[in-house]
Amino acid sequence: MNIADSVAVVTGATGGIGLAISEKLVALNIRGIAIVDVSDQCEVVSRLLNESAGRQVACAFQGDVTDPEFRNSVFPTMESEVGLVQICIPAAGILRDSMAVKIKKNHHEDKKDSPISPAENANETDPIDHTELYPESLFRQVLEVNLLHPTYWAMQTIAGIANYRVNEELGSWQSQEAVQGVIILIGSVSSRGNRGQVSYSAAKAGLNAVCTTLNVEGLYHGVQTKIIHPGFVSTPMTDSMPDQYFEEKLKPLVGLGRMIEPTEIADAIVCLIENPIISGQLWADASLRPMI
Ligand SMILES: NC(=O)c1ccc[n+]([C@@H]2O[C@H](COP(=O)([O-])OP(=O)(O)OC[C@H]3O[C@@H](n4cnc5c(N)ncnc54)[C@H](O)[C@@H]3O)[C@@H](O)[C@H]2O)c1
Repeated sequence: MNIADSVAVVTGATGGIGLAISEKLVALNIRGIAIVDVSDQCEVVSRLLNESAGRQVACAFQGDVTDPEFRNSVFPTMESEVGLVQICIPAAGILRDSMAVKIKKNHHEDKKDSPISPAENANETDPIDHTELYPESLFRQVLEVNLLHPTYWAMQTIAGIANYRVNEELGSWQSQEAVQGVIILIGSVSSRGNRGQVSYSAAKAGLNAVCTTLNVEGLYHGVQTKIIHPGFVSTPMTDSMPDQYFEEKLKPLVGLGRMIEPTEIADAIVCLIENPIISGQLWADASLRPMI
């Protein structure tokens, strides 16, 4: 699909990967781009993009991507002010990592403080539970942001194009037409499952099925859906890793022996947008060996 003269929505657009792809799309002469993020940097990023382009190209939308009302406001605004949204990159994401089942830190103290001896405790009908499960509230939050949000922003993009085609009485998309729209989902190498990431891995694995489904359904309207699985990218998200964690634990697993730059992921995304014969999953992991 031709990037120049199309209109894009990028969520998480003030974060590492979202910002890199937004800058790239503007450099490639995109007609308009919605800079969507919960962060108060939306206005600043949009202003800088407009300055670099020397024209009004970016529109700031500060809000929570999991809020359907917010989502429903972005697409019609872009359509009426700039044009039909044809490219969507729902890149907003969060980490809420923790082991699926943990032994409580203070379990020795629990035992020490217990008024009954371990021997007595063995006969208790209600023994002390030393374990804790990954909180359901966090699991739901991670699914909302990392699975539901990209799915619904993608579906909204397909709906806009489908609606346009019905209004124009264009019928089902035909192979001699140009591709009408492209959605790039941001998966992760963690979609294969990863220690400490039960919720994040589940969300990212779920995106594979969403990708396949939307690609099959969306092509009726001429919209392709693809997914990229980045490895360790140098962004604020990975900055939250403890010091030396990458160097000591992860680097030995990365064939290229380094973090990936967000611009490298942006380049790969551009390739996915522009080349219609690429479908399915692209692994952009710097030759990472399985982590689990
Ligand atoms: N950095 C990596 O190593 C890596 C690897 C694989 C996949 N990813 C994925 O790439 C995407 C971008 O990650 P990143 O590394 O750029 O992270 P980042 O933390 O730099 O950016 C994420 C952005 O999403 C925004 N955001 C989070 N929750 C939001 C919400 N509810 N509403 C609106 N905006 C919200 C944040 O404000 C932030 O600007 C994510 O989906 C992430 O899971 C990242």
